[in-house]
This record gives sequence, structure tokens and C-alpha cells, in this order.
Amino acid sequence: MELITRAPKGTVDLVPGVSEKWKLVEEVFESEAELNGFAEVRTPVFEHTELFLRGVGDTTDVVEKQMYTFEDKGGRSVTLRPEGTAGAARAMLENGLYNGGYPVKLYYNTSCYRYEKPQAGRLRELHQFGVEMFGTAEPIADAQVIALALSAFKRLGLQDVGLQLNSIGCPACRKEYHKALKEYFTSRKDELCDTCLSRLDRNPMRILDCKSPVCQEIAAAAPKITDYLCEDCRAHFERVQEYLTALGVEFTIDPALVRGLDYYTRTVFEFPSKSLGFALGGGGRYDGLVEELGGKPTPGLGFGLGLDRIMMALDAQNVEFPQPVRCELYLAALGAEALKKAFLMVDELHRCGVPAECDLCGRGLKAQMKYADKLGAGYTMVLGDNELQEGKAELKNMKTGEKRKISIGEDFIDAYLTASTAQDDLSV
Ligand code: HAM
Repeated sequence: MELITRAPKGTVDLVPGVSEKWKLVEEVFESEAELNGFAEVRTPVFEHTELFLRGVGDTTDVVEKQMYTFEDKGGRSVTLRPEGTAGAARAMLENGLYNGGYPVKLYYNTSCYRYEKPQAGRLRELHQFGVEMFGTAEPIADAQVIALALSAFKRLGLQDVGLQLNSIGCPACRKEYHKALKEYFTSRKDELCDTCLSRLDRNPMRILDCKSPVCQEIAAAAPKITDYLCEDCRAHFERVQEYLTALGVEFTIDPALVRGLDYYTRTVFEFPSKSLGFALGGGGRYDGLVEELGGKPTPGLGFGLGLDRIMMALDAQNVEFPQPVRCELYLAALGAEALKKAFLMVDELHRCGVPAECDLCGRGLKAQMKYADKLGAGYTMVLGDNELQEGKAELKNMKTGEKRKISIGEDFIDAYLTASTAQDDLSV
């Protein structure tokens, strides 16, 4: 029985009280993206496995160890998306979004699935807010994407987010780098873990983000990509830094930052949370991805932010959220006629945008008032035979206790809005 009453390992429920906070945070990211001209894309939760093998790379941890891959009933191999970039690039191509002119700017707010060992900040169902921009290789675009995330962090009141920056070059300069890495790691071959040994020939850069402590120690002394950048990549990286500096953005350059996905080229970045000790998000350029997926050569870039980790960071910093108003006015009713009247009034209130409730559980008057209290209703009103006859009822301000008789006839909404505003003014 225990199994069906518990959510699967590495997943969480977002229940009322928490989900409202998520919504507010998501709105900040979405509105910041929209300010920058990004529009939402929603892609399927599963894709052909091949998309991630080619897009993310078959020597990455994500593809080698973490994907939820299965055969569907038609015998096709499908995978729950482990990240949002490959699906967004596919959707951009499939829907011809480039016909609207470059750059194509997309954002998403989505769940991703990675079979990882669950721990603080590491889930199997994680949530990402991401943006992807296609069709520009200009360094100004890199700066805009990075600045967008930082503005949203600032609007949320997140204090301790850093920016780490690096360039991992283009395939041309990376050829030399791969050679140097291979030479270095071959000299320490006997100490590498089995996965890294298998990566030595295929993709030595992936050894740099192996989680095994021994491999990490070996990787720390490995040659750095920054020493192998070609002229164009070096100039590109310098201009990204110039634009960021012009915006007043502080950053540190981390020559060891390579990111764990294969599609990256040139600029890569992460947003570490200094207090939590892990990255709240990361991203970079992927100038070869669209071509890899069968499209025309189209540069691109973006980021993915871990919403689960961002919520943790906001909690750790005690960032305050406004209390959600679940019920502004509770209409308690005594008797069937009064309940029907309350029901119709509640419906009218909803159409005017006022969160209002009446009894849905067959409660007596006392229990209704208790429930109104539990809901935190700002106002209550009791309707009974007398009130129906008179066409008026007492509106009670639950905070101050002040009461005011108002019409419950056709002009009820106006009467309520006037009285509640007046009382709010008094109680300030
Ligand atoms: P990523 O670094 O793999 O990049 O993930 C981005 C962020 O998602 C991480 O920094 C972290 O905050 C969060 N995250 C990743 N795995 C987990 C997990 N298991 N549990 C909780 N949070 C997690 C990407 O996914 C790229 N698609 C980002 C990108 C977009 N690059 C270019 N465009």
C-alpha cells in the first residue's frame, strides 16, 4: 500500500501554499522573457530517443546514464525529455519558425526527467524555465540572454547568484584541444573510472565533468580550453564580456567550466548560488545543433534555469511572498432559499473578479462561519429569511469587526465594492 500513497522517488507535489509561490516566480521569468521578445513554445514531454542522442550527445552523463527511455507499443524508442533545448530546436525546424525572421526567440517552462540519485537540489522530475534564441552568432545576443536571467533573479530578490563564464570554442579550435586532452588523460589512464576510459577516444572533454572524485582531481590539472581558442572564438568571447561589462554585469571567468552537454560551442555560463553551493541554471551557445538535427547551419544559444533550485534559494533567503487571497467574501446562508440567493451572488461576484464562496458542504451557520475564518475571508455576510425580505444584509469586516448594512439586490456588486473599499480605507 505504501507505494501508491507516496510519490515516486525524486518527484515532488506542488500543493496549495507552495504552488502559488511557483506561479509568481514563473510569471517573473515569463514576463522578463516576453519583455525581451521571447514567445512561449510547448513541446511534447517525450521525443524520439534519437533526438537526444544526436542533440545532447551520446557520451554525456545525461544520455549515457540518466534518460527515461522506453519502447512504446509500436516498437519505437522514445525518451522523456531530459532538457528543453533539443525539443525547442526540433520544434523550431519542424514548424518553420525561421520563416518569421531571425532571431527566433522561444521560452519554455517545463518539466524534465533525469534518472539521477535524488538529493538536495537533485530531482528525477525537475522543472526548468528556459529560453532559446536561433539565428544569430553575434556576441550581443549572448549578453542579452545572460542579462535576461540576471534581471529576473534581481526582480525575485535573489541576492547571492553569481555568473561564471567561459568559452569552449568552435569545432576547429576544439580539435587541438581534444588532442591535448587525450594526451594528458592517456598519461593518467590507469586512474580513470570505466566510463571515462570509454570516453577517452570518443569525447575526452566529457571526462572534465565526471562526478567521480578521482577523475575530478585528475581533471583539475588538465589543459584548459581557453589556451586553445582560435582568433575568432577569442574575439567573440571578448566582445561578450564587453557587452556584459557595459551593462554593469559582474562575472568571473572560469576556464574549467565546460558544461555537461555536447551541443555547446563558444560561450558557456552558469549561475551558481553561493549559499546553496550549486548552479541555479546554466546555458550557452550551440552553433552546430540545428545542423546536427538536419536543419541549415543556424547558430543558437540559450539557458535553462532549475526552478526547483530557485525555489530552494528563495526559501533559504527568506524572500517573502504575498499571501494569496483565496476568499475575499464568504456568504453564509441560513436555509435553502438563502443558500440559493448566496449561490447566485457568488456567481456574480466571480464574474466581477471577486474571490467569493458560499457553503458547498451542507454545513450549519456556525460551521459555515468557522470555515470562513479558516479560509481567511476578508468579509462575511449572513443571509437568512429576514435579509431576503429586507433586501439588505450586514457586511462584516473580519479584521476590524466593523459591520455595514448593504443592499443585496440588483445593485449588490456596486454596494459591496463601495463598502469594502471604504472599510479598507478606514482600516489602513
Ligand atoms: P543543465 O545545466 O543540464 O542545462 O540544466 C540546467 C539547470 O537545470 C541546472 O543548472 C539545474 O539548476 C537544473 N537541473 C538540472 N538537473 C537537475 C536535477 N536533477 N534536479 C534539479 N535541478 C536540475 C540544460 O538542461 C540545458 N538545456 C540548458 C540550456 C538551454 N543551454 C542552452 N539552452
